[in-house]
Amino acid sequence: MRKKVTVVGGGFVGSTTAQRIVDMELADVVLTDILDGPPAGKALDMLESTPITGSDSRVTGISTASGDYKETANSDVVVITAGFPRKPGMSRDDLLKANYDVIKAVVEQVAKYSPNAILIMVTNPLDAMVQVAYKVSGFPKGRVMGMAGVLDSARMSTFVATELNVSVENVHSFVLGGHGDDMVPLPRYSTVAGIPLPDLLPADRIAAIVDRTRKGGAEIVNLMKTGSAYYAPSAAVVEMVEAILKDKKKILPCAAYLEGEYGVKGLYVGVPVKLGARGVEQIIEIKLTAEERAALEKSVASVRELVTILGVA
Ligand code: 2OP
Repeated sequence: MRKKVTVVGGGFVGSTTAQRIVDMELADVVLTDILDGPPAGKALDMLESTPITGSDSRVTGISTASGDYKETANSDVVVITAGFPRKPGMSRDDLLKANYDVIKAVVEQVAKYSPNAILIMVTNPLDAMVQVAYKVSGFPKGRVMGMAGVLDSARMSTFVATELNVSVENVHSFVLGGHGDDMVPLPRYSTVAGIPLPDLLPADRIAAIVDRTRKGGAEIVNLMKTGSAYYAPSAAVVEMVEAILKDKKKILPCAAYLEGEYGVKGLYVGVPVKLGARGVEQIIEIKLTAEERAALEKSVASVRELVTILGVA
């Protein structure tokens, strides 16, 4: 039997995520939205592409305006993109309260119909929304995670590959911490064909890449004017979905629940994890310099502030 993935939220991130999953024939997909019509239309359009692409994934689109999530039942993975997107001039944190209500309502329904699913959160402010999903679902920590590090690292890798004029396949970038302006790109652990970045680029160029990575989401928002990024975010989600469905044991940076790792307790923060069929199967700890640790602590403090406001600390 094919696997089943529900994508909640049929906006650009949700629909491109669904499309990538169908194109890769990873699973059958249910795309949901509170709008009535667009999810069904997008899903049918995607389905009609499958004779051309040769994918036997089935995709359906449903409206959850009535609060009915029956058709999502028994999903293996649920990707949650629902919520309000970031507008120009708005920080991820401005979205906090508005998206809390959305995520709480969605996760209650998802958990009811797919009690064994793995949840991948995408809605911003990311780390706080994952914490909400963890508390509301009551799922074990390994089955609730957030997508951010894969996206942030991909952005950093793009900038490194462009700067050095090398294949993106040669670049592995490392970003820790929350998906906010305080995220912690780690040049020492970022490599090009195995060579650490500081051996290849002068400090000022690295600093510029780190800065651009931190502001990567805002750069796209400012260019697009209405809406935020979705091509790279959906690609990042699907790398995680694939690692889970294929039990790849792939090490990827994700927002994971820390219980003492990196000196952090009871909080979702971006760290490298091993992703497999059980979700987050292991948290990988790396050694940090005093400066890197201080940067991580600052990022952690920003996340903790948000979850404290929401009362989900
Ligand atoms: C991004 O990084 C808006 O958080 C979103 O593109």
